[in-house]
Amino acid sequence: MTGALRAAFDDDRDADTFALRLDRYGPELLASLQAAYGEQAEPLLAQLLEVMLHAYHTRPADLKRLDEARLLTPDWLQQPETVGYVAYTDRFAGTLKGVQSHLPYLEDLGVTYLHLMPLLKPRPGENDGGYAVQDYRAVRDDLGSMDDLSALAADLRARGMSLVLDLVLNHVAQEHEWAAKARAGDPTYRAYFYVFPDRTEPDAYERTLPEVFPDFAPGNFTWDDAAQGWVWTTFNTYQWDLNWANPDVLREFVDIILHLANRGVEVFRLDAIAFLWKRLGTDCQNQPEVHHLTRALRACARIVAPAVAFKAEAIVAPADLIHYLGTRDHHGKVSDMAYHNSLMVQLWSSLASRDTRLFTRALSAFPPKPTNTTWGVYVRCHDDIGWAISDADTNAVGLSGPGHRHFLSDFYSGEHPGTFARGLVFQFNPQTGDRRISGTLASLAGLEAALDTGQPQAVDHAVRRILLLHAVILAFGGVPLLYMGDELALLNDHAFADTPEHAADNRWVHRPRMDWARAQGAARDPRTPHGRVNAGLRHLIHA
Ligand code: GLC
Repeated sequence: MTGALRAAFDDDRDADTFALRLDRYGPELLASLQAAYGEQAEPLLAQLLEVMLHAYHTRPADLKRLDEARLLTPDWLQQPETVGYVAYTDRFAGTLKGVQSHLPYLEDLGVTYLHLMPLLKPRPGENDGGYAVQDYRAVRDDLGSMDDLSALAADLRARGMSLVLDLVLNHVAQEHEWAAKARAGDPTYRAYFYVFPDRTEPDAYERTLPEVFPDFAPGNFTWDDAAQGWVWTTFNTYQWDLNWANPDVLREFVDIILHLANRGVEVFRLDAIAFLWKRLGTDCQNQPEVHHLTRALRACARIVAPAVAFKAEAIVAPADLIHYLGTRDHHGKVSDMAYHNSLMVQLWSSLASRDTRLFTRALSAFPPKPTNTTWGVYVRCHDDIGWAISDADTNAVGLSGPGHRHFLSDFYSGEHPGTFARGLVFQFNPQTGDRRISGTLASLAGLEAALDTGQPQAVDHAVRRILLLHAVILAFGGVPLLYMGDELALLNDHAFADTPEHAADNRWVHRPRMDWARAQGAARDPRTPHGRVNAGLRHLIHA
């Protein structure tokens, strides 16, 4: 570290700490910046140093202490007692303060990792469940304030629980300050996005781009009058994709990550990370630069806030997924954790087919992960289930890929004769025939239908299915992520469409409100199916 940099510290020990970390992570940071940005890497590194120094100086003492503790326990996310819980702040407890008042409930369940769904200030109206962020430095008004977030994080920390937040990297809301400036004609901010004057480039990209929301947001580009151009919008029309080939975007996100880390966020869920880098002639997912960007972001976080971990939300094929935990040069140097989407899909597939051959085949062919990383294992989450099962795997066990995927969609949408499941079709794509599925764990596993028929044996089977699925994720290894309400076997929320901004998106059917009456009543009564699920799940967690 140069003398000039040392002069930025009052305290020699602080300077030593920063210098040691910079020596450790600086080379990989620079290498990744060079891979992504070529000659722009060196000036960018100088800017990042300033951002890191500022964040280091303002990092609160208790978090610096946590940094030291984590450096002594680098496998903290791999401890067998780690149990995750995923909830919407408002649906779980109204506000951040409400969440704080319910921490004893989570403690009692054994939770050590709390993922609160997007809570940073979203755009008004439709906002993709909060994934259209207008301001990364403010909390959604009705949930509380940034100070409430820090207070909650501190309370969680004191109880041995980590706060996990979404970091939406691929896009911002069209109302975000950067987009507003771009629309007002500021060239600096226009360069934060992909805005094309005519259809030439969008059409060229579209030739190889899939559609994420073919139903309610077809295509990947949206005409914007103010910007006078076609804006890249992979997801909804109001979510503007960021141009990560612009080094300014990376610098902004280093600043945001460190700012939130200093507020007490311990794990960042890197939302839609597969989409960050665009390359003509490809599907613009899983490009090699994505891993360089992640390695650079992680190096910055390790230098300032080594307590922080990254979780990749890459819902991609196994051969692509493994790169998010790191292969070759990036081995163990990118995300610390990634969602195990295949495990989730295979669980539902074998539950429907009553056959584990495909499951066994797919999981045994799964690439091994770096030992310093872990899986996020789950049965349900806030998203739909897409049948990510490869033809190679189905063929190997004598099934047809398209046939099996068709069967699964029929089965879970309730169309297959004799099915126990009550789900909804999400995003039917007439071109590919894909039908994804929405529904709560309990409704997909048969409890809703069983309670309607009132047959005790059907109810019993549904309860056993729910516990079986949880037993697998709790035993598999990795961080089991319990999805709010599944511990009480909450059923589909068929009234979801009464909220106008949710009506078009049936993923809201499996985002019910927490049922506190049930949590305190029926869930304690072993004569109810909810009580059996709750007691069984607690037993599994304990085991
Ligand atoms: C992730 C989220 C999903 C959201 C999308 C766009 O896949 O899980 O809910 O729609 O990103 O941000």
